[in-house]
Amino acid sequence: MSTTAPTVVAQLVETMRALAGPHPGFRPVHAKGLVCAGTFRGAAQARSVSRAWHLPGQPVPTVIRFSNSSGNPDVHDGVANARALAVKFQLPEGKHADILALAIEGFPARTPEAFLEFLQAQLPDPATGKPAPEALSRFLDAHADTRAFLERLAQKPVPASYGQTSYYAEHAFLFTAADGTRRFGRYRWIPEAGEAFLSPDSASQRSANFLREELENRLHKGPVVFRLLLQVAGEGDATDDVNALWPADRPLVELGRLEVTGISPTGAADERRLVFDPTNLTDGIELSGDPFLLARSAAYSISYDHRSKGE
Ligand code: HEM
Repeated sequence: MSTTAPTVVAQLVETMRALAGPHPGFRPVHAKGLVCAGTFRGAAQARSVSRAWHLPGQPVPTVIRFSNSSGNPDVHDGVANARALAVKFQLPEGKHADILALAIEGFPARTPEAFLEFLQAQLPDPATGKPAPEALSRFLDAHADTRAFLERLAQKPVPASYGQTSYYAEHAFLFTAADGTRRFGRYRWIPEAGEAFLSPDSASQRSANFLREELENRLHKGPVVFRLLLQVAGEGDATDDVNALWPADRPLVELGRLEVTGISPTGAADERRLVFDPTNLTDGIELSGDPFLLARSAAYSISYDHRSKGE
């Protein structure tokens, strides 16, 4: 497993905080969120992929957070941006396993170092107060994978509902089945209601919090449901590169069904307290060699420290 220098991780969080501006007590990215409760039930096939405790089919309580990846807690819901779904499966003895996922496949960069460069290219130049005009285009010229990610985002800029977009956990993880078979896979959540997107123009006509209002209305009619699928790697598929998307014909194994049942009445306090972390795993699921995973865990803990000190 390759590791990222602690200075790079610290700079990542500092740069995110600088880009977000001062919002004490909020996350520097994914600042605007909505905490929900729900129940997950594993599917019959799940154990053919992983022996993890939460997959055989019993109801597992979950804490869920939908979010907008912007660092502005007051961002208008119509702004084009990657939305996210973070799910915490509550396991026995106070343990948990997390899946963090984005509505767009892949990520703006394939390594933490390149991601830092991407963020730094957007920082204001102290002389002008604005980002250097060519900094981002220079970065994009050198990083075709970033351009490809931004093009995918432009196809699905704003979901019509948090419950009407798929979410991808991006990285590969290593799964061990009940019979000991080991294989790599990538999670994706598929909305039972189907996908629906808005153009930024039409979304900007809606209210600033329309995604929250829409979800509240939808939940009055019943649970919002996602299927959890695992895309299983084929021979030779990269398992340490978040932007090496696997061919569409790779098998998808049904792992289970998440029912989002309600919005937390104590959402604001939950948001401060909650930390979702892709390295929160359980027996039957392990990290791949993707360098992002450990870097993210370190970054989330620095971010939580700032938040809990009200910084
Ligand atoms: C080195 C790369 C990355 C860095 C430095 C980073 C940093 C952060 C930080 C600081 C937070 C706020 C955490 C908190 O305060 O609780 C966050 C949240 C989040 N990140 Fe990342 N991130 C990175 C890559 C990714 C990737 C590849 C994904 C893809 C799934 C992702 C998905 C999320 C999600 C879903 C949240 C919101 C979690 C929540 O609802 O609390 N991040 N990220």
